Amino acid sequence: MQTELRSSLAGNQCSDHLLHRLHDLQSRFQHIPAQEIPPLATELQLPISQVEAVIDFYSFFHRSPRGRIDLLFSNCTSCGDLSLMQQLCTSLDVSPGITRADGAVSIDETSCIGMCDQGASLLVNGRIMTRLNPQRLQQIAGLVNAGTPLDAWPAEWFAVPDHVRHPGLLLNDALQPGAGLRAAIQRGAENLLAEINQSGLRGRGGAGFNTSLKWQLCRDAPATTRYVVCNADEGEPGTFKDRVLLNTYAQQVFEGMTLCAYAIGAKHGYLYLRGEYRYLLPTLEATLAEQRAANLLGENILQQPGFNFDISIVVGAGAYICGEESALLESLEQKRGVPRVRPPFPVTHGYLGQPTVVDNVETLVAATHIAVQGGQWFKAQGTEKSAGSKVLSVSGDCATPGIYEFPFGTSLQQVLDACGGQDAQAVQVGGPSGTLVGQAEFGRKLAFEDLATGGSIMVYGAQRDLLAVVRNFSHFFAHESCGFCTPCRVGTPLLRKYVDKIASGHGTPYDQEEMARLAKVMKRRSHCGLGQTAANPLLDLLERFPHVCTDRLLHQDYEPFFNLDAALATTRTLTHRDDAEAHLS
Ligand SMILES: Cc1cc2nc3c(=O)[nH]c(=O)nc-3n(C[C@H](O)[C@H](O)[C@H](O)COP(=O)(O)O)c2cc1C
Ligand code: SF4
Repeated sequence: MQTELRSSLAGNQCSDHLLHRLHDLQSRFQHIPAQEIPPLATELQLPISQVEAVIDFYSFFHRSPRGRIDLLFSNCTSCGDLSLMQQLCTSLDVSPGITRADGAVSIDETSCIGMCDQGASLLVNGRIMTRLNPQRLQQIAGLVNAGTPLDAWPAEWFAVPDHVRHPGLLLNDALQPGAGLRAAIQRGAENLLAEINQSGLRGRGGAGFNTSLKWQLCRDAPATTRYVVCNADEGEPGTFKDRVLLNTYAQQVFEGMTLCAYAIGAKHGYLYLRGEYRYLLPTLEATLAEQRAANLLGENILQQPGFNFDISIVVGAGAYICGEESALLESLEQKRGVPRVRPPFPVTHGYLGQPTVVDNVETLVAATHIAVQGGQWFKAQGTEKSAGSKVLSVSGDCATPGIYEFPFGTSLQQVLDACGGQDAQAVQVGGPSGTLVGQAEFGRKLAFEDLATGGSIMVYGAQRDLLAVVRNFSHFFAHESCGFCTPCRVGTPLLRKYVDKIASGHGTPYDQEEMARLAKVMKRRSHCGLGQTAANPLLDLLERFPHVCTDRLLHQDYEPFFNLDAALATTRTLTHRDDAEAHLS
């Protein structure tokens, strides 16, 4: 049985967490050297096999050395541009995924890094760089070839502005630190729960579970130790609102966690931060320090005897699946992020088997505001089943990508008008796992009962090839599948193959039928939300934009997945024949 991770940095980061130790090794040696694994396992009292499994699971850890400058280009349809990656590869004479012989540089692609409002973006040695263009890439090539250390690169390249375009209920409302906690203490834990219940708050991470019920179930679960976990993994392509909340509203996030702790009786909380957002750590740690200094965290919080609670931050290492709450808990427990069998749910059997509330960043911010302003204030906005507002990450083909907060019930068209996306032919609502809608549905409402979204709104203008978009999503899911269950492990790469085949002009009606059949099996049979939703964009495309696929079905007969003629090249070489008869017509 593992024990709770204790921080050696006054409760801040768990410096002895396996993910953090592996990150340190990766930064020091550009890979995880084999000889470092046994002593690390011994020191952390973990089986070597567990350490090795973790190294192989997370995409930011490598067994062989990456370049001293390691560039990872986002391949997202909003913050990615792989033609720029190709350009840099050519300039630096590097092949994607292969470290240059002198060890100076490596270049590869990575899933969406949450910079969808910032233009084409990349990670360089884990640091975010945005607003890429061909000129910038030339400068980067010069710096790499000159061996200029990363710290000497222009600091402004690494800036990440918030881009809050339309603040609403939460973002407009500046709160004094501690206001939520003071109000909660005055009310008492039971009344705080009643207030959250009255507000109608539902989880903002996507599933929309009733927040007060979740907190109540955890409070009622028999145990002496309970935990609060803030899910800041934000890996859904096109989503970046938690990034902004963590950057500018961190105090309200942590206060929301402390309120939850007060309600359920937890002594410790974790904020699980996606590895791509590591640059936010100094801000987050400074906020934690301020809150400790103000007695909003620590012992006897706000002079309440026995109200003890503190928060540690654990940073992920590049795995979308770790946003799924039970996979996140596995990751917190220093294991591979494989979703658990549920039930039991985290509210009764969560972190280290103890009752745990896992809540999204925005849910916790909303809870802080509700504690101050009351449930009625929150419920006054939104719809009957979706109270309050939603913070949206708007990106893609629109004039002003950024953060927009609107009451639930706002139509998609209103959002498009606000962001300058009037030219849209389609919008992906809720990220690749959400819903692809066309113009006929732009009047639909953003709400749990209509178009649900965890916050991602990706706009696709008239010029976009929607099959290319869906192809991008199918590659994303195949890459991010954790491999635990067969429908998803086998289904996502198969789906990717079908979409690739159709996109390359080799698809047949049979392929399209098989693809749709497979998509339905995955939806029904996969173990977790990733596999259950991975085929959504494709099914939506077939339903709402059928011509996009059928127009590409140029062959009516059976076509193999591979180029049979090219596959016979070796035989032709061996038989010294390359005449017309040796080729398939
Ligand atoms: C594949 C997958 C990825 C997810 N990623 C996130 C995420 O990045 N952030 C998040 O809050 N919830 C994510 N979720 C939902 C969580 O499992 C969980 O429902 C949520 O954290 C609960 O918090 P809430 O009730 O405040 O929404 C994801 C779910 C799945 C299936
Ligand atoms: S559905 Fe996919 S991600 Fe989820 S458990 Fe199965 S293989 Fe893993």
